[in-house]
Amino acid sequence: MTIEITGDSKAIVTNQTGIHEKLELIVEKHFSHPFQKPYQSHTKQAFGDVNQFVQAFLADNSDGEIILDSCCGVGQSTRLLAKRYPDALIIGVDKSSSRIERNVEGFDSRDDYSVENFHLVRADLNDFYRLVKTANWPVKKHYILYPNPWPKSKHVQRRWHGSAVFPTLISIGDQIILRSNWLIYLEEFQLAADIAGLIGNIMKVSDDEPLTPFEAKYQASGQQCWQLIVETACYGH
Ligand SMILES: C[S@@+](CC[C@H](N)C(=O)[O-])C[C@H]1O[C@@H](n2cnc3c(N)ncnc32)[C@H](O)[C@@H]1O
Repeated sequence: MTIEITGDSKAIVTNQTGIHEKLELIVEKHFSHPFQKPYQSHTKQAFGDVNQFVQAFLADNSDGEIILDSCCGVGQSTRLLAKRYPDALIIGVDKSSSRIERNVEGFDSRDDYSVENFHLVRADLNDFYRLVKTANWPVKKHYILYPNPWPKSKHVQRRWHGSAVFPTLISIGDQIILRSNWLIYLEEFQLAADIAGLIGNIMKVSDDEPLTPFEAKYQASGQQCWQLIVETACYGH
């Protein structure tokens, strides 16, 4: 086990010292074999409901922009993004009902966050991404903030860039903004994007206000958080 030193005892523990040696093979395999797993009915239903909301928004706002907040947890980032982009509709998606349904303490009662241009959905993104692609949502920005890192080497295919849905994920929207406290995760995603012909830039997160509870936790414990931005507008739309 190698311990990546990023601040304290909660730092990522991984047996990888760099990019996974099989990542290129895995990504290429996923690009050459379409992901055809049947949709789960609960995600299909959830997508149908939120899609009505999205289509109504687009009907009222001909230049309307959708911002996707994948793995939104309790939806703090979804609300903050709604405040930051008042003309957009922010869709936060998480598979955990306990997180989606949890009230963020003190959040809704603060005037700062009394925004309405967002929607939280419980759904599995492995299905949701394919439904978004089929419905051709005009996603301007796609945030993936602190996804589960799955740091054990044997779990590489559970990371988003190692998953079968990656070719679909990367073909949605104009820009992906991915954050993690594990730099290797971002470097791997950057390599997977590069295989798709897309360039991504990695930088340190330097926001004053944490976007998410996980970001707040990592920053409070002195860990560096990282951000990768991949411009996807030119890809497969
Ligand atoms: C480490 S948490 C980060 C939550 C939040 N973004 C934050 O930074 O506070 C990762 C989240 O991803 C969600 N997640 C993992 N796999 C998912 C999937 N396939 N579909 C939807 N959500 C998923 C988990 O339920 C969890 O809430």
